[in-house]
Amino acid sequence: MIEIKGLTKHYGDLAALVDMDLVIEAGDIFGFIGPNGAGKTTTMRILATLLEPSRGQAFINGLDVTKKGKKVRRIVGYMPDFMGVYDDLKVFEYLEFFAAAFGIERRKRKSIVEGVLELTDLQTKQSFAVDSLSRGMQQRLGLARVLIHDPLVLILDEPASGLDPRARIEVRELLRELKRMGKTIMISSHILSELEEICDHVGIIEQGRLVFSGTMEGIRQRMGVQSKVRVCVADNQSKAVELLSALPEIQDVRLMGAYIAVTFEEGQSIDGIIARTLVRGDIDIISLEPEQLKLDDAFLKLTEGIVH
Ligand SMILES: Nc1ncnc2c1ncn2[C@@H]1O[C@H](COP(=O)(O)OP(=O)(O)O)[C@@H](O)[C@H]1O
Ligand SMILES: [Mg+2]
Repeated sequence: MIEIKGLTKHYGDLAALVDMDLVIEAGDIFGFIGPNGAGKTTTMRILATLLEPSRGQAFINGLDVTKKGKKVRRIVGYMPDFMGVYDDLKVFEYLEFFAAAFGIERRKRKSIVEGVLELTDLQTKQSFAVDSLSRGMQQRLGLARVLIHDPLVLILDEPASGLDPRARIEVRELLRELKRMGKTIMISSHILSELEEICDHVGIIEQGRLVFSGTMEGIRQRMGVQSKVRVCVADNQSKAVELLSALPEIQDVRLMGAYIAVTFEEGQSIDGIIARTLVRGDIDIISLEPEQLKLDDAFLKLTEGIVH
């Protein structure tokens, strides 16, 4: 649905985007992740036809964004990272204004606006001033706005930033609903864990370059995100360490005082193996609890490690 080939953007001497290639499949929720200044907004603005690339091409549903701007804008809903301020405008008026701007006939506007209000759960707020809404509601209103012309593709620039956890969950639910409706969604964030749960695929961008693109699982492997379990045994800790160290699935076993820290590759189901091994060795297990290494720490390592 989205294809980017050799996309490059310079702002004067600054290379904000360097030879980027990227494919996003139809129906995907694609997380576009990178630290501030990495080039996310630049990429998204090019896709949304608001910015000319210096070199390279980008296609949405087969349409070249630099040549078929009008057609592209009809199938794309772009939500910028900052929403303008609209003094005294009510939610309903705000959406009607954009419906008019999208060229939707007057008689159809009301039902379309009601539809997007319902989808974003803002019906009860329709007579409120836009400025009076909480940040979470404003983000939902921003989503309502980009849904007015029923676009195939949504390009959402950091829609979850600055939201409290509850509002973030609401946005996440809404994105899942939009995916069920068949939309392709590209969503950016500077925090990997913010998107971890909803994305089918992710791309990691650092200083204008795509350093990784693939599944969430792939990223964990690439970053060497390991899993750990803490094992507490009733007695005979040293024998437990010895038995566990001999297991091929396990990378590291360390005695940490009260418990034994066992490290293994992400994706293995290791609990059963540990339990069986210890029981066979006649060692009583008190507890066995998982401890996943923080994805964001690994992400920082990745972005620091590859480019710098
Ligand atoms: N209009 C502009 N003029 C000059 N430099 C810009 C402009 N927009 C962005 N940049 C620079 O380009 C780089 C990428 O910015 P941006 O695409 O906004 O990154 P992100 O959205 O990932 O934070 C940054 O170094 C930023 O300062
Ligand atoms: Mg940005």
